[in-house]
Amino acid sequence: MTESATKIAPSPRARVQAMMEYHPPLGCRDALRLDFNENTLACSPKVREALGRISAGSLTRYPEREPVEALIAARLGVAPAQLALTNGVDEAIHVLFEAFLDAGDELLLPVPTYTMYEVYASATDARVVSVLADESLQFPSERLLAGITPRTKIIAIANPNSPSGSAATRAQLLEIAARAPHAVMLVDEAYFHFHGETVLDLIGEIPNLIVARTFSKAYGLAGLRLGLLAGPVELMRWVRRVLSPYSVNSLALACLPPALEDAAYVDWYVGEVLAARTEFEAALDQAKVRRWPSRANFVLIEIGARHKEFTRLMSAAGVLVRDRSSDPGCDGRVRITIGTREQMRQAAAALNETLARLETNGGAQ
Ligand SMILES: Cc1ncc(COP(=O)(O)O)c(C=O)c1O
Repeated sequence: MTESATKIAPSPRARVQAMMEYHPPLGCRDALRLDFNENTLACSPKVREALGRISAGSLTRYPEREPVEALIAARLGVAPAQLALTNGVDEAIHVLFEAFLDAGDELLLPVPTYTMYEVYASATDARVVSVLADESLQFPSERLLAGITPRTKIIAIANPNSPSGSAATRAQLLEIAARAPHAVMLVDEAYFHFHGETVLDLIGEIPNLIVARTFSKAYGLAGLRLGLLAGPVELMRWVRRVLSPYSVNSLALACLPPALEDAAYVDWYVGEVLAARTEFEAALDQAKVRRWPSRANFVLIEIGARHKEFTRLMSAAGVLVRDRSSDPGCDGRVRITIGTREQMRQAAAALNETLARLETNGGAQ
């Protein structure tokens, strides 16, 4: 490129220039992927059948989300106008922040938490106000309440939270919503199925509550990119203004009804994960690895200074895990997704082998 071409290159907004690109780690596909909190097995066979029925001709048409939205709204007990399907919860977060965060506004976040809140907030002119959890990594309810100001515009709470696995109680959430009536309270229930507690029933009743759900976790549809936002009609209509009408593609829309119908599959998968979590936690305790109590399909563990080497050795042993050391308050901590019992026995064997190797080769980094 010539010098003059560089000079006249269009420049993005200052906020975008200050942003980092976010590249999720790529893993070798043969390994056991315990680094994304996905379903580690498969989606329902009913979804696979639905995929098989999709004709090439149907792909010529733009997707129609509204009939599917009506169906899922009925299933979740909300009105269609209270619900919007999105291209994963990531898009839900993006459009919500786009719709509500202005210059001078504050996004209040308990941290550590899901990375994308901060990524999408950094593209707006709002300020991120982070409230650090203490060593227990429990939901910092009191500190969060103290962090509410007249400028707080959104409070984003992953419940259960990632990477800690901890959860806020319904009473804590209700108090926060009541103390910040001028702010949207987003409760991101991506891991709802493993936790079993929800505030979705309060949609409409609490005027500033919006709930997000994903089909990427228990349903095993992360590749289809399906999420949703549910909230009062008065808030959802602003969200809809920024939401692309076609961001949920027709394959995803075709797969959603059979995925929802096959509740037995999701129940089975969740039961399997919870049994595996109990077994894996016992294996961690036996190996004397510190862990944080989890309400989700992953567990955060303490590895210490050699977290990088641990993650590398686990990967060499065929198990991908996620080093969370760069998250606030998480130095030396690694998150491991819980899969099936069989997979977690493999993970526990790799973990024991890796810990033994770390011990025998002393302090070598
Ligand atoms: C708390 C939380 N919310 C949302 C997401 C992303 O969901 P989706 O795949 O629907 O974009 C994740 C993914 O890890 C998550 O941990």
